[in-house]
Order: sequence, then structure tokens, then C-alpha cells
Amino acid sequence: MIPYRPEPLTDFSAPHHQEAFAVALARVQEQVGQTYPLIIGGQTVDTGRYLESYNPSAKTELIGRVAKAGKPEIERALRCAQEAFAIWSEVPVVERASLLFKTAAILRRRKHEFSAWMLLEAGKSRAEADADTAEAIDFLEYYGRQMLALAQRADALLTPFAGEDNHMEYIPLGVGAIIPPWNFPLAIVTGMTVSAVVAGNTVLLKPASQTPVIAYKMVEALLEAGMPAGVVNFVPGDPEEIGDLLVEHADIRFISFTGSKDVGLRMNELAAKRIPGQRWIKRFVAEMGGKDAIVVDAGFDIDLAARTIVQSAFGFSGQKCSACSRVIAHASLYDPLVERVAALTRELKVGDVREMAHFTGPVIDQKAFAKVTSYIEIGKQEGRLVAGGGASADTGYFIEPTVFANVAPSSRLMQEEIFGPVVAFTKSTSFEEAIAIANQTEFGLTGSVLTHDRSHIAYARRKFHVGNLYFNRKCTGAIVGVHPFGGFNMSGTDSKAGGPDYLLLFTQPKASSELL
Ligand code: NAD
Ligand code: ALA
Repeated sequence: MIPYRPEPLTDFSAPHHQEAFAVALARVQEQVGQTYPLIIGGQTVDTGRYLESYNPSAKTELIGRVAKAGKPEIERALRCAQEAFAIWSEVPVVERASLLFKTAAILRRRKHEFSAWMLLEAGKSRAEADADTAEAIDFLEYYGRQMLALAQRADALLTPFAGEDNHMEYIPLGVGAIIPPWNFPLAIVTGMTVSAVVAGNTVLLKPASQTPVIAYKMVEALLEAGMPAGVVNFVPGDPEEIGDLLVEHADIRFISFTGSKDVGLRMNELAAKRIPGQRWIKRFVAEMGGKDAIVVDAGFDIDLAARTIVQSAFGFSGQKCSACSRVIAHASLYDPLVERVAALTRELKVGDVREMAHFTGPVIDQKAFAKVTSYIEIGKQEGRLVAGGGASADTGYFIEPTVFANVAPSSRLMQEEIFGPVVAFTKSTSFEEAIAIANQTEFGLTGSVLTHDRSHIAYARRKFHVGNLYFNRKCTGAIVGVHPFGGFNMSGTDSKAGGPDYLLLFTQPKASSELL
């Protein structure tokens, strides 16, 4: 088998790529406004109640209506998933992995089409959407290979024992709930779903309400690749209506969640409580928020640091768990660095991402717009506004990339996840103090250190407590298999998506021993 290699990204400066994307976007644009059903046990189900998904760049443009599941549909999906589990859990690993490889081929062939859906439904620029599709392909290719390796590795890890024939195999858990966020509407939905499925589990997938259409397209691709009925059951719905039911249900064996800290913590509590009839301790895998910092050391190149910060803070309008929202800069370069970041930020063009000139698009919806703009008001009290600050929700939810200086490490701007295009600066007087400030948060997801001093690199490796630590580069853009991704503390359950241990989270090791 060809070894796993990350999917290359598209160079949109090349005219032929621009043209190919324009064709895909025009085709997708013709398909907006359609209605999509639930998919339960391989059957389509129209409940007559719908989630409506709008384009955040043009907020009255309906991208699609997706049927909403209620309690009866969740119960039905659970029964279908249980029936499918009896068969799917015994399907040879090679066949399960091959479903992922075939789905990857479908996504690769129709790459720009999937990216165009994300441009319209999530407001991703071409480059961000292309990276999202590439990451989805990577998860399929990587987890397929990982499952094949895992199946072979188990026995090899055992110590031989004379007179006995001993084995260990990683068997699946059962029926799981997959609850992803909207911000990587293809990559994370795909990765969370297929990691569980390739391990032999069957699932109920409840996509985020903001991006259900692209999630439907992913399930369609799995079905086109030959996924048997009932393996993935597509059950969008209001979290208030079906969220607790999914998490609490006695027949749910595991929950794979990616989203905010508050929602994750609540789910963790609900999942820990045994329900009458429940025969296992539910496994809860959570990837949650971040408050990620870039530390800039004395003597580092100011322009390079500024470019790194702007990329990390404002790509996809800062709506990444990995986005830089805090900068801790040494006093010797603090003022010129703030000025350079402010100047670069003012150059960024914000608007409808159908226009290629727009570096960044909208935030996802009215709720996000209200939250981010309220933090900009808080920032005006807590620091000095040096760039941006403007916002308009007239046509889409646009917020200028915004920079605040002189913000205290303990302030709300420095402590709370804003999840928008806002970055705050604070000053340090030593490298040790900078790392202490970087650690002064309840999260522990990503962080970057920009330094030319090797002893400082060694110090940060030991002391900077984040799941993904980067040196002299941006703090976003982890690549599947290259940078296993996931954080510490309130950033989650210490899992690593796209890493060699991830599939173990969806399996249980079974040992058998025969006396010879
Ligand atoms: P969210 O917590 O609002 O929602 C996440 C998912 O949970 C969605 O599908 C949502 O519908 C569902 N949900 C919400 N309330 C629920 C409930 N009571 N019961 C069941 N399901 C419920 O998060 P979001 O706004 O979709 O995503 C942004 C958040 O996700 C940010 O905090 C970001 O940092 C985090 N995130 C983390 C990672 C990571 O790998 N650590 C990756 C992407 C996003
Ligand atoms: N995996 C994404 C990144 O690293 C969130 O930016």
C-alpha cells in the first residue's frame, strides 16, 4: 500500500485553479436552497421540520433546509445503528478501511465542489475551504491505514509464553454519538465520523446546526462509496431538543464531541451518570476550546513575527480553536511589533468570500457576531484599540480584524475564548515571565514561540503546557499524521486527532489465551 501522504493544497494564484474553482462554485451556487432529509438505516426521512442554513456572507441567501430529528427519529436511528453494529463490527478491517479510501477518492475528484459548499455555508475563503477539504481527505487516508496497522500490531505487542497461544485484538465499542462543531464543517465531521466507523462502531451523527448541508454531502459520499445502511445515521436537530437524549441514552456507548468548553463540560457530567438499563461506563472523547498564545522573544525579526501573528489570528476570521488570540511580546520589541501588526491588519480585506480579494469573510452567524462585538467593547475598557473594531451585520456578519494593546494577562480579553478576529497584546520583561503568562489560562491547546535562542526553545518545550507547541511558525494549520492535534486542561480529554493513538479511543482491547 502507498504510504500516507498529506493531500497537497491548491495554489489559487494559478489561473487554471481559479477557473476550475469558479466552475465548481457556479455549479454549487445553482444547487442552493434545496431540502435534505435525515438518513436513518439507509432510508431518507423527511420530518417536515427543518433547520435552515444561510450563507453568513449574504445572510438572506438560503443554502439549504435540512430535516430535524426529534425523539422518535433518535430512537429509530439507535435501533438501526444497533442492528448495523451486529454486522459492521464483524466486517474485516480491510473492508472497513477500503470504505475510507473510496470516500477519499470521491472527495479528491470533487474537491472544489466540497470546498465551494463550505465557502457558501461557512464563509470560508477558497484557501481555507481547500485546506478543510484536504484535511478531510487526510483523515480518510490516515485513519484507514491506522486501522490496518492497529489490527496487525496488537498481537505483536504481546510477550510470547511457552505452552500458550495468546492474542489481543482491538474490538469496537458499540453505538456512538458524533457531535462536531461548524468551524471545520467537512474535515472535523469526516474525521470524527470515520475514526469511529473504521474501528467497527456505528454512529448517530448530529452535525452543527450552522453547517448541516456540507455534513449531508459527506454522508452522501460515504454512501456512494458503499457504506452499508445504518453505519452512519444522519440526525441533525436542535441541541436543546435532542442533545441531552443523545448523550444520556442508555444505548449510547460513547460520545465523540468537538465544541465549546461549556457544552463539553455539561456533556461530560451527563455522560458520567448511569441511566437505568445502561451496561457500561460511557466513553467521552472531547476536543474543546483554546486561548492560544504566541510568545515573541527579544531579538526576533519584527516583520516575520507580525506576519506570523496576523496569519494565526485572522485566518477564517479567528474562528479556529487553534487561532492566536493572545500575544506576549518582550518589552524590547513590543511597541514596534504592535505597530507592525496593526499596519498589516489594516491591509486585510474583509467581505463576501466569493470575491477572491477578500482575505477573510464573515463570522458564522448573528449569535457569533453579537458575542465578538461585545468582546470588542470589553476590549476598549481593558486595553488600547490599535486596529479594527468596526463591524456590520447589514448584509453578512462582517467584523474587522481587531488588535488591542496593553491588555493585562488576567483580563477577560486574555482569558475567555472569543472565537473571532480579535487579538490582544501584553508585554513581558523576561522569557520565563512570558511563558508563565502564556500558561496563565484554563486552556492548553496550541501555542507558538518565536525565538532565535536555543535555550529558550528547550525551556518552552519543558514549561509551555499546550498540546500543540510550535516554534518559529504560526500556531494554526496542524496536518493530519504530521502534527497530531488536541489540547490539555479545559481544551479537552487529551486526545490527539490525526495521531497514531486516536483510534484506540474508539476500541477496547480483548485478550484471549488458549492452553496448548
Ligand atoms: P458548540 O459547543 O456550540 O457546539 C458543538 C456541537 O455541540 C454542535 O454540534 C452543537 O449543535 C452541539 N451542541 C450544543 N449544545 C448541545 C447540547 N446541549 N447537547 C448536545 N449537543 C449540543 O461549539 P461550536 O460553536 O459549534 O464550535 C466552536 C467551539 O469548538 C470553540 O470553542 C472551538 O474552540 C471548539 N473547537 C475545538 C476544536 C479542537 O480540536 N479542540 C476544534 C474545533 C472547534
Ligand atoms: N487543526 C486545526 C488547526 O491546527 C484546528 O488549525
